[in-house]
Amino acid sequence: MRILIVDDDDSIRDYLIIVLENLLDSLDIIECTSSQEALKLVSADPYFQLIISDYDMPGGNGDQLYLGLKERNYEIPFLLHSSRSLEEIPTLTKIKSMSKDFFYIQKGLALNQFESALQSLAPFKGQAPLLNYKRVRIYFFLRFSKSLCDVYIKLNDQKYIKFIHKDDAFDSSQIKRILEKNVEYLYITDQDYLEFAVSLVKQPFLLQTQDMTPEDRIKSSQMMLQHMAMTTGLTRSVLSMAERNIELVMMEAADLDQLSKLLNQLRARQDYNYDHAYLLCYFCCVLCDALGWQTRRSREKLCFASLFHDITLKDPDLSFIQRIDDQRLVQFSPDEIQEYKSHPQQSASLLGELAESYPQVDQIVEQHHERPDGSGFPKGLKAHQLQPMSCLFIVCHALVSEMYKLDFDKTLYPKMMKDLKLQYNLGHFQKIVEKLEDVLLKVSSVKTN
Ligand SMILES: [Fe+2]
Ligand SMILES: [Fe+2]
Repeated sequence: MRILIVDDDDSIRDYLIIVLENLLDSLDIIECTSSQEALKLVSADPYFQLIISDYDMPGGNGDQLYLGLKERNYEIPFLLHSSRSLEEIPTLTKIKSMSKDFFYIQKGLALNQFESALQSLAPFKGQAPLLNYKRVRIYFFLRFSKSLCDVYIKLNDQKYIKFIHKDDAFDSSQIKRILEKNVEYLYITDQDYLEFAVSLVKQPFLLQTQDMTPEDRIKSSQMMLQHMAMTTGLTRSVLSMAERNIELVMMEAADLDQLSKLLNQLRARQDYNYDHAYLLCYFCCVLCDALGWQTRRSREKLCFASLFHDITLKDPDLSFIQRIDDQRLVQFSPDEIQEYKSHPQQSASLLGELAESYPQVDQIVEQHHERPDGSGFPKGLKAHQLQPMSCLFIVCHALVSEMYKLDFDKTLYPKMMKDLKLQYNLGHFQKIVEKLEDVLLKVSSVKTN
């Protein structure tokens, strides 16, 4: 619906836009501040389906605008939105009694009254009703700068305001401002959600604009991951400690031939593989400290293992899979399944360059899909055959994967911790999972019995 709003008061125009955007899903609103401007706009483009106008305006009141339009033979429904009552202005009473396309709503009505008054007017009948929405974690928007669909902020269950328009570029400061208000989600319509088959690992309805440099991309990804980690309750100081370790290992890797190539490949990725590698670094560092294993070396080893453990997996969907008997593997080609089965060893062998300065990293990587009961792969090792560092890594890896599955919904963490405690209850795992629960308890009030 194409609507012209005429009001010299900016706040009233903003208010009208918000209300209209919540009533109708497809809108094209043009604004102006005077009757003369309105007449010019209509004569340049007579295809407005509704004009909403104030009464008291400098240079010509609302009734003059209506009569001016009639003089020029325009048949556009006209809604006068005024603080004055119709009875106060005789010309308006007359117009109202003679015209079918003239409507009136008093200014200052409560929002719900105003909305129902609007909905009862003829121009709004038959308009598409409100859509349903799907929520999207707000920090995902930090990585991107362009949206392929309209994005909304939720006011309440019935009301959503358009925040980013389709194809509009936006910047992270816009997103940060609402993040600061503790808004957790933005919304897109069900229809768009289906259209883009939203899967947050596959760059769905968001894009990066062309003008972003590779450094900007890395920075925005990092910003997103930090916010993601912070919603799990990790504090800034914990994150910056982990960041320092990540930086250190990245610098070290940059000096090594093979690893620097792999690192660049990893950083160019914008998918689950990169994201979970990075989040894994955070959790490994935190848990390592909580367990009192906080030598710099152990944190660095865990960061190396985190960054490179899935480096040989090309499809991010494969990085999501935890177990060799997962039914989702069926959809992949025999080559891809083979790639998956051997990726712990393949990735570990690429870390050979590190063996001297960081012994054990390749072992951690090779064992990251082993499980305490021996049902893991590639070797089916049991809890007592796994080193504590490997156990810590396996637990953190499972944690990150679960958090993703739960869309980082903190209310579901107690159940998640309960399941993890049941699964990882042997050997070194037991103490590690208990410590993990303590860490999460401290930061996000998660406790299970
Ligand atoms: Fe893996
Ligand atoms: Fe992984």
